[in-house]
Amino acid sequence: MIALGIESTAHTFGVGIVSSDGNILANVSDSYVSVKGGMRPFDLAEHHSKVAPRVVRSAFKEAQISKSDIDLVGFSQGPGIGQALAIGGAIARMISQVLKVPLVGVNHPIAHIEIGRLVTGAIDPLIVYISGGNTQIIAHVEDRYCVLGETLDIGFGNAQEKLGRIIGLPFPAGPHMDRIEGRWIDLPYTVKGMDLAFSGIVTEAERRIGRGERVEDVVWSFMEVCLSMITEVSERALAHTRKKELMLVGGVAASPKLREKLKIMCEDRGVKFSTPPPSLARDNGAMIAWTAILAHQRGEHVDIEASHIRSTWRLDDLVWPLIDLNGC
Ligand code: ATP
Ligand code: FE2
Repeated sequence: MIALGIESTAHTFGVGIVSSDGNILANVSDSYVSVKGGMRPFDLAEHHSKVAPRVVRSAFKEAQISKSDIDLVGFSQGPGIGQALAIGGAIARMISQVLKVPLVGVNHPIAHIEIGRLVTGAIDPLIVYISGGNTQIIAHVEDRYCVLGETLDIGFGNAQEKLGRIIGLPFPAGPHMDRIEGRWIDLPYTVKGMDLAFSGIVTEAERRIGRGERVEDVVWSFMEVCLSMITEVSERALAHTRKKELMLVGGVAASPKLREKLKIMCEDRGVKFSTPPPSLARDNGAMIAWTAILAHQRGEHVDIEASHIRSTWRLDDLVWPLIDLNGC
């Protein structure tokens, strides 16, 4: 079986083509960028509509298959930004109708986890999911993925983007901020049990810059504080769950600083650290195609009439038994 998956929860429009034996035949995407920083929902929708035909064509070219080889269409049904999700949903419905193949609405965070398990070989890890909109510490318990801890306000990636906009960096600012070196200044460290919060740190960082502190020092300290907070809650979750593996997913998994901090903490605890390559850790179409196959194997499809987007759909709303990927 071959599935085509469409991702469009936020700034990335992605198309992936994956076979049921776990082969990623294509993974093509085009992400919205802005020199002024930030992203407005309308601009995302316009971007996705413009690039969609080219991205779909490139995916078929990369996979070297024809349209009639597709058996299933999956799309990111939520959570995400409504206007962006709507474009991917409309295109997926159309393709499934034209090709007369079933349609599967995929939960985006579960897709991050399942593609991660497929390519890293992690079996039942503690999942540290850090992206623009999401910051969650997740573990599989009984028949679903459960959120053990999460941000109480904004995702860490969006906190980076806010600070990036203040100091005039282009969007996405994260990769630039990750490389800035500076000296330590005190910023608020906000961890509450296994939850964390980032808004106050951004506000204080902005205040410090307004008071004339060196931007490099503020940015470097901001990254140090936030990434240490993420590492602390991850360690606490490992201690509680006694999981022996930790898997880092989401766009911020590309951060060498975050990977290093988590790796050191895992080594100290005898826990195996893994993370997919950045092209599969950030938003991408392959993760949607693969998760659509897993859902299809359990008989989960959506009728066109019920395929509306679900912008606030949490992963713990879903019954999702741990699937044994042995053999993929
Ligand atoms: P989601 O819908 O899951 O919240 P998203 O739309 O935020 O995902 P992702 O591609 O998962 O998309 O993550 C994007 C975030 O990752 C951006 O905030 C970006 O700045 C950040 N990022 C990317 N590379 C790096 C890096 N090297 N260091 C730090 N942050 C990074
Ligand atoms: Fe994502």
